[in-house]
Amino acid sequence: MATAIPSLLAALLAGCVILAVPTTATDHVVGGSLWSIPTSSDYYRNWAGNTTIFVGDNLVFRFDAGMYDVVEVGGWEYKACSWVDQYSDTLKSSPAVFHLDFAGVKYYVCTIGNYCSLGVKIWVSVQQA
Ligand SMILES: *[C@@H]1O[C@H](CO)[C@@H](O)[C@H](O)[C@H]1NC(C)=O
Repeated sequence: MATAIPSLLAALLAGCVILAVPTTATDHVVGGSLWSIPTSSDYYRNWAGNTTIFVGDNLVFRFDAGMYDVVEVGGWEYKACSWVDQYSDTLKSSPAVFHLDFAGVKYYVCTIGNYCSLGVKIWVSVQQA
């Protein structure tokens, strides 16, 4: 019976280790709020510049479905507010989640109306963890 206690302890410790290990991945809600026309055109850039994003994290776009959407594009498209060359499907339901598998710069725009020109666009730099 005395051996039951150490093994129970070992099991509890193992449980703690398993609970402690996982969540290194962070969900980043883009802009810290809704994906929508910002009050200043550099709002999303400022947010991204103040947010450290690592490989393995998720970018979470929360928006009013039907009013907004999001698609990953290249740098040229980001600047031009174009989405002729799409790097992802156009995600139309919220929350739209992009899992960040690789380090580098990623660009996202909204394809509704002229919202991209109004600032509903973002680029983020994903760092190696
Ligand atoms: C961080 O955000 C502030 C405004 O909130 C902005 O002035 C600043 O440029 C941002 N930093 C970076 C590195 O983008």
